[in-house]
Amino acid sequence: MRTVFWENNELKMIDQRILPSRFEVVSYRSHKEVAHAITDMVVRGAPAIGAAAAFGLALAGYESASTSTEGLLADLGAASAVLKASRPTAVNLAWAVDRLMRVARSVNGSVADLRKSVLDEAQKLADEDVEINKRMAEHGAALINDGDTIIHHCNTGALATVDWGTALGVIRTAHEQGKRIHVLVDETRPRLQGARLTAWELEQYGIPYEIISDNMSGYFLKAGKAQKVFFGADRVAANGDVANKIGSYMLALAAYDNNVPVYSVVPTSTIDLSLAHGDLIPIEERNTDEVLGIQFHGEPVAPKNAKARNPAFDVTPNRLLSGIVTENGVVYPPFEINLKKVFK
Ligand code: MRU
Repeated sequence: MRTVFWENNELKMIDQRILPSRFEVVSYRSHKEVAHAITDMVVRGAPAIGAAAAFGLALAGYESASTSTEGLLADLGAASAVLKASRPTAVNLAWAVDRLMRVARSVNGSVADLRKSVLDEAQKLADEDVEINKRMAEHGAALINDGDTIIHHCNTGALATVDWGTALGVIRTAHEQGKRIHVLVDETRPRLQGARLTAWELEQYGIPYEIISDNMSGYFLKAGKAQKVFFGADRVAANGDVANKIGSYMLALAAYDNNVPVYSVVPTSTIDLSLAHGDLIPIEERNTDEVLGIQFHGEPVAPKNAKARNPAFDVTPNRLLSGIVTENGVVYPPFEINLKKVFK
């Protein structure tokens, strides 16, 4: 089953807030509900929120009561702004909405034609995501050796995309090629996408894994107990700096210091050539409840009036990365020059 899909004139999504305790699919009929679901992390992961926003815009087309194409385009424009504001760091979201708006503006037909074109393009984008992920997975799997132990951060699997995944898709393909792989799953504080979602996916695929708390990776890397680090990205700047889930930078630093290669796996839709370097990437700061809400043995961890900070992403400088895996091949340094070449 896909993470994000269109069925019976509704957008359906696996509810990632409650996995792995419960598996539920939720339905959406308005773009505002979809924007809220993205902010609230029903759906998360850069390509998955891009696809969700695309179907959200298709819903906006059917919500609009406009009888003229100009009026419908204006309603779609307003919905675009709502969807784009739902999460700022992952560029796939704006990329998807802009792509659909370009198609909408190019339609030369009736209001019904326009609505249908937007939905068709959203479906095309979702189908392409799966195909692109499988191509990335083939390129990335060639970097993995039989017997490797891999440290993986956040969730980059089928749940983070329409299907298959980015970095976890690479690991899955290498496993299906018969390579014996062990995954050390960073639990990924504060929302625990690793411990909850990646571990759940690895169980479905029968890939051996162990969960580690984020602060353990330095120990395993220094002890020579991990041969590769793989993670995804929410936005890659033109120079190859990578914004990804908070904690990726520290993991990459520890890997670099121990000569362990670090790969970021991204569709080209995650590469933002308009930003020269990673410091220009907007970093989402989320509600501190995500940090303070955790319990230990059933008791709240932090004092009642504790304050916290919660940046959801950090930027790994390009010098710490060995390669960036895309659907068009693996990009190696110098990224400033070579990243541009993967755009066909
Ligand atoms: O806050 P999230 O769970 O949306 O963060 C997701 C990540 O950081 C992923 O690593 C990233 O989106 C790339 S995986 C497809």
